[in-house]
This record gives sequence, structure tokens and C-alpha cells, in this order.
Amino acid sequence: MSEDHTETTPERRNFYGRHRGKTLRTSQKTYLEEDLEALRPVGTSQADNPDRHVVDPATFFADGRPLWLEIGFGGGEHLVHMAARYPDVGIVGCEPYVNGVAMLLGKIRAAGVENLCVHPEDVRALFDILPDACIDKTFLNYPDPWPKARHHRRRFVTPNHLLPLARVMKPGAEFRVATDICDYVRQTLEEVPVAGFDLISQSATPWEDWISTRYEQKAIREGRPQHYLTFRRK
Ligand SMILES: C[S@@+](CC[C@H](N)C(=O)[O-])C[C@H]1O[C@@H](n2cnc3c(N)ncnc32)[C@H](O)[C@@H]1O
Repeated sequence: MSEDHTETTPERRNFYGRHRGKTLRTSQKTYLEEDLEALRPVGTSQADNPDRHVVDPATFFADGRPLWLEIGFGGGEHLVHMAARYPDVGIVGCEPYVNGVAMLLGKIRAAGVENLCVHPEDVRALFDILPDACIDKTFLNYPDPWPKARHHRRRFVTPNHLLPLARVMKPGAEFRVATDICDYVRQTLEEVPVAGFDLISQSATPWEDWISTRYEQKAIREGRPQHYLTFRRK
């Protein structure tokens, strides 16, 4: 079997990114111990839902508010910014990198936002148990670039990720992609429409409610250009 085999089932799925980085600070360990469990969307953890039954996203937030999704939130700056800016929306952030989750939890404490849930895992584990057409907006900010051609199939903008995403997004829902990699733009423009989205805009200027992320700041320091793409689910 090749290193990059296509994983179509949860049992065969690989995650190629990092789960852990530098040793966590004591405060970050405290955030994880004290805050994370209460912030997980109801019924989504393996312990709560071992048979992976479809969940009711209306239970994630009390009042059936619009549901947004951020995939790979990194340090969580965009996620917390959006939650503060749109208090009437509920946003689920997915990130398997525990150091990023710990950073987010610190930011949630500081900002005092209450309209966030945290899925500290691969977003595909969430797709498995979401019903059709339940997400109103999705953010994919600076996804892992996987620059080598033989690794392009690991990118998020591949059918393995995009088809489940398309299934859970409502017709008309917005899908935003920010990247600093020209070849990622190419693949995004090829693959996302095939998965059931229309391109709405492609710009070097960010959305008016954008906040720059850690990864974007690194890209700017290193002289790479920004690309902001907006799609709409058919
Ligand atoms: C390059 S970083 C960008 C982080 C952040 N969005 C930013 O702009 O600073 C990409 C992030 O996506 C996360 N990621 C990769 N694959 C993922 C997946 N299948 N589900 C959720 N997060 C994922 C990685 O762990 C990583 O933190």
C-alpha cells in the first residue's frame, strides 16, 4: 500500500499533521483539564458516542442558532474574534493539535466568549456524525500546504475532505478559504467546485471581518502573498 493511500473510512483514516508540540505551560494544562470537556459539542466525543450515531447539532448551543465551523483553528485567534464579533452565532472549532487547543482555551478565558464549541480532533470525525445540511458557514484558514507534489493528496482540498464538508453544509452556505500558497489556490479552484460549490470571489484583500492569524503573520514576514477565496454551497 502506498504511503498516500486514500482513506475513505474512519478505520483507515490517517492524520498527517502534529498532535503535540512543545511542552505545555502549567496554565495551559489547567485550561485543558478544567475547560475542554465542557466545551466539547454534545455527543461528539468517542467516549460519549462510541457507536458514532448522528448527533443533533441543535444541542451544541441552547437555542438553535446558526452554526459555523472553523477547520484547523491553530492558535484560535480567528475563532475567538469571530465568536466575539457574531455573538448570535454558534461556532465549532476543530483542531487536533493539542497545543493549539490549549492556546484557544486561554483566549476563550480572556475574551469571555460563550458561543464556541471545541472539537479537539480531526474535523472528519465530526463530519461522520453530523446530519446533512446543518452548517451555515465554514472557515478554512491557511490549511497545511503540503508543498511536495506527492503529498498534494493530503491537502484539505481533496474529495476525501470536501465531499463530507459539502454534505454537512446548507445550500447557499459560505465556504471561505485563505492561503498563502499559489499552488493551493490552483488546487482549491479545481477541487472545490467539483465537490458542489460555486466560486463567489477570489481576492488579495481579506474579508471585512477578517483578523490575521498566526500563520498569516508568518507568511507575511516571509514575503508570501495572501489569497482569499469565497465559495457558496450549491
Ligand atoms: C497551517 S496551520 C494554520 C492554523 C490557523 N488556521 C492559522 O491560520 O494560523 C493548519 C492547521 O490545520 C490543522 N488541521 C490539519 N488537518 C486538519 C483536520 N483534518 N481537521 C482539523 N484540523 C486540521 C492542523 O493541525 C494545523 O493546526
